[in-house]
Amino acid sequence: MPLTYLSPCKVNLILNILGKRQDGFHELETVMLPIPLHDTITFERIGKGVTLTCSDPRLPTDASNLVHRAASAFLTNAKLFDGVKIHLEKRIPMAAGLGGGSGNAAITLLGINELFGGRLPENRLYDIAAALGSDVPFFLQKGPALAVGRGEKVQPLPPFPALQGRGILLIHPGFGVSTPWAYQNLARFPQDLNGQAGRAQELINALNGTDTKTAVAQLYNSLEAPVLDKHPILKLYQEFLEARGALRAMMSGSGSTTFAIFENKTAAESVIEEFKGQFGDTIWVAALEL
Ligand code: C5P
Repeated sequence: MPLTYLSPCKVNLILNILGKRQDGFHELETVMLPIPLHDTITFERIGKGVTLTCSDPRLPTDASNLVHRAASAFLTNAKLFDGVKIHLEKRIPMAAGLGGGSGNAAITLLGINELFGGRLPENRLYDIAAALGSDVPFFLQKGPALAVGRGEKVQPLPPFPALQGRGILLIHPGFGVSTPWAYQNLARFPQDLNGQAGRAQELINALNGTDTKTAVAQLYNSLEAPVLDKHPILKLYQEFLEARGALRAMMSGSGSTTFAIFENKTAAESVIEEFKGQFGDTIWVAALEL
């Protein structure tokens, strides 16, 4: 019997970079919030090897794909000589700062582990996830979380009262941003490269209260400095949204997605038509309830 899993995405409510490390990665503190916008992944046991198909022809389905790599890493670690057939139905935009690919990789580990009767314990799944990418371990659990280190050390958090029932608008401009590019170009903005530790905890304290405006005033993303400098249109999106009822609009991860928090989903939906009129009706937009 094939197994089907939903693969969610995330936004970073804060992405506070604390400095560049010896190993080339950046030390950071981030608060990640799962977003109920999903890809769907189906898993089935086959005789041997990994076979991947995908609804989006732009995504390679060979061994370079993160889902393919996650599946192979699982089989190797579990010392299994069986195979798995995977189909990925894509809805989450790619190179978007939404962690779609990282989520797909984590869900692949969880899905295949179930397919093989829970062969690997949680700590082994975590190690494989962390080796696949900094954001992958976050998606092994379901709720919001504080992540530190290069993003792989995840501390699960309870839901945030300040965001309960609020609306979120996600906007993908139709171009992507390379994550390594964004990190490299942070070197031109020393203040954003060397953030003060502790801001993430301050934000969490505010999100645990009920005053949404106070909480969202503390959202921050170090990577906005290089990315908005290269793509000033994203700054215009934010100004437009905040002038039309968004409590706050910011870039997620290394971009290019903008997210905006509204009082509720209806308020988020109400700006879509005018936004598309202003910036183009091919722009990808989704309104969701938190
Ligand atoms: O870990 P992941 O493969 O997602 O990282 C992609 C790239 O983003 C890294 O190769 C690195 O250039 C950059 N990165 C970083 N510091 C982090 C996370 C990612 O410099 N904490």
